[in-house]
Amino acid sequence: MMKQTRRILLGLAASTLALVAGCARQEKDERIVLGFSQIGAESEWRTANTESIKSAAATMGIDLRFADAQQKQENQIKAIRSFIAQRVDVIAFSPVVETGWDTVLQEAKAAKIPVILTDRSVTADPSLYVGFIGSDFVEEGRKAGRWVAERFKDATSDVNIVELQGTVGAGPAIDRKKGFEEIISAYPHLKIIRSQSGDFTRAKGKEVMEAFLKAETRKIHVLYAHNDDMAIGAIQAIEEAGIKPGSELLIVSIDAVKGAFEAMIAGKLNATIECNPLIGPQLMTSVAQVVAGQPIPKRIVVQEEVFTMETAKQHIQSRKY
Ligand code: AHR
Repeated sequence: MMKQTRRILLGLAASTLALVAGCARQEKDERIVLGFSQIGAESEWRTANTESIKSAAATMGIDLRFADAQQKQENQIKAIRSFIAQRVDVIAFSPVVETGWDTVLQEAKAAKIPVILTDRSVTADPSLYVGFIGSDFVEEGRKAGRWVAERFKDATSDVNIVELQGTVGAGPAIDRKKGFEEIISAYPHLKIIRSQSGDFTRAKGKEVMEAFLKAETRKIHVLYAHNDDMAIGAIQAIEEAGIKPGSELLIVSIDAVKGAFEAMIAGKLNATIECNPLIGPQLMTSVAQVVAGQPIPKRIVVQEEVFTMETAKQHIQSRKY
């Protein structure tokens, strides 16, 4: 009798386990699979963006297949092709440059896998992707231009500006330059005297700023950097040249990462224009909507602010990246 009861109990335990395992498998099989190709890890901004995407996927139970392209378009194309071969439900990616995506996007369309662009857009037929979630980079450039114009509104002689551009061919590099130039073109005394790519990295920002300082005989009044990392690298070069960043040479950059707030509090960076990397939750919501057959807006613009060294201290605690 005792033996029989034990056998029945063991049998029940086994079937419960099988049931739990079965449910788990079923749940796993039913999870949405998202293939995401990230640009790389070139900046503090990018690290925060990756973290936002990974944690939002985990929170929403989305099976994320993540690939880091190490700043190379060919790696992104390879990753997208591999997602197509894996038959993922949705592909999302942040394109390193704007052009050269038509063929691979057509392949995704032919495989009936919807594509969502995040952070940066592409110059391709818009029917090749379902939506784009990201910042308005032209407006960010305009904000930086307005900050410089306001700061030098009473200048009586030329204001010499040097510009550190982002990665050549990247949407934010093209648009931030465009927006900035659009504003300063109304002020003939604001002049860009040198402009070169620092590839969105600290190391390159420092290297190019060193070259500017070495080659330039005129006084440099302003540095406009397309991201905070390049500005932080350049600050080092400026200090090494015996110039005081933030007072003798004013600096405005874009992103509003923690490092920029620290530099502003230290009086070395004058202003940063926010570019919000925390778009993971918005992306996952859009992915779920697309899989459910619901339409998503073709363009979702992220809202952003401007921060200056005067108010940096009161904001740093509440910054999430
Ligand atoms: O595309 C957004 C830009 O890319 C950020 O401004 C920069 O820091 C990043 O690398």
